[in-house]
Amino acid sequence: MALRTQVGIIGAGPAGLLLSHILHLQGIESIVLEKSSRDDVEAIIKAGVLEQGTVDLMIAIGAGERLMKEGMRHEGIILRFSGRDERIDFPALTDGKSVMIYAQHDVIKDLIEARLESGGDIRFEARDVSVYDLDSDAPKIRFRGKEGEVNEISCDFIAGCDGSQGVCRPSIPAGALNVYERLYPFGWFGILCKAPPSSDELIYAMHERGFVLVSTRSPEIQRMYFQCEPTERLDNWSDDRIWAEFRARLQTRDGWAPKEGPIFSKTVIGMRSMVVEPMRYGRLFLAGDSAHVVPPTGAKGLNLAASDAQILARAFAAYYKARRSDLLGQYSATALRRVWKATRFSWWMTSMLHTFPGADVFQRRLQLAELDYVTGSRVACAALAENYVGLPIEQ
Ligand code: FAD
Ligand code: DHB
Repeated sequence: MALRTQVGIIGAGPAGLLLSHILHLQGIESIVLEKSSRDDVEAIIKAGVLEQGTVDLMIAIGAGERLMKEGMRHEGIILRFSGRDERIDFPALTDGKSVMIYAQHDVIKDLIEARLESGGDIRFEARDVSVYDLDSDAPKIRFRGKEGEVNEISCDFIAGCDGSQGVCRPSIPAGALNVYERLYPFGWFGILCKAPPSSDELIYAMHERGFVLVSTRSPEIQRMYFQCEPTERLDNWSDDRIWAEFRARLQTRDGWAPKEGPIFSKTVIGMRSMVVEPMRYGRLFLAGDSAHVVPPTGAKGLNLAASDAQILARAFAAYYKARRSDLLGQYSATALRRVWKATRFSWWMTSMLHTFPGADVFQRRLQLAELDYVTGSRVACAALAENYVGLPIEQ
């Protein structure tokens, strides 16, 4: 079937859904193609920390109602090291800003509902998606629908929002992109468990056995991670062994211990940084994880997907409303300024808090000195807080 739209969007993750909905509110039409089923995209367990700007965006586009009811506003985090707890107070250090704990799959559910309620066109289970004629004025997307039929969409533009394993970035000719990458020599073992929260605020703990993050999802469900080998196998870790590891790494001087409960999800997450430049080829624009990946320590991935979508939507709006191409021309440079700052912050948090294989005592002392400095100096604390709650989008 021959289809036509203004912006063809590949991927119904945070980047693609936000872009589609902001465009709709500006009177610009799009079709979203997603390879997974609706049930599957609404079930994938990923991020949990929304920056203030991401929350403001969800509210501004009319998808923030449940988030405001069920999300948990967090006004600080705890850095735990050498058996000490040091709190970073976000509102005091950032003129009142904070973050919201709200699961990514709930963001996805809310955005899909908002899109479908307003007549949005999302094609789930789209197979064999491919993109063509990217450097022409009429780029095309081909895909197989649920019934196996082949469809072609003629677009003015294509937005590649298909994550780090998608088809858009590999469709750009070799040599047209620069890829900058860093692999970290560890991963995160993540669990979800049924238990009450162990702490009112997230705990980022540095320990010789490795980093731990104590996060939450709701008063009944907790999310926790510990640093592991990048190739760690899930079946090496019984529930008892997992809790023993958490207890060992989270010990404080006053004997604090996490609240334990049945574990119902276990995953191992790789840790890498990747940035591609530019985030555009012809009429294909990359947004979110298709253009950049950060290690999860700074909680930035979903939030970068949201800021890319905002910057790109603004550029499309200028094009369709005022026939201005300048913002589209600047999209990559504008987005990359924020991307590189978030990449730096994520790298810095990762480097400060993890145990590196083969690290000597000198390196460890430097990490502890850095934590002592960051938590003891008002300006250093403010720099951490400013980045954690989210930097502004440059104009
Ligand atoms: P994705 O969410 O990957 O969405 C891409 C979509 O495209 C997917 O639905 C995929 O099915 C679809 N797709 C892929 N290929 C194709 C194709 N060929 N055809 C059609 N569709 C396709 N970030 C934060 O900001 N805060 C956090 O606290 C945080 N914690 C995290 C914890 C974990 C455990 C993990 C794994 C990640 C975390 N992140 C966090 C990162 C965040 O989840 C990602 O950065 C975010 O999902 C990126 O959104 P996206 O829309 O760019 O890509
Ligand atoms: C979560 C994930 C992160 O990467 C992070 O830095 C904080 C919280 C989470 O899944 O809750």
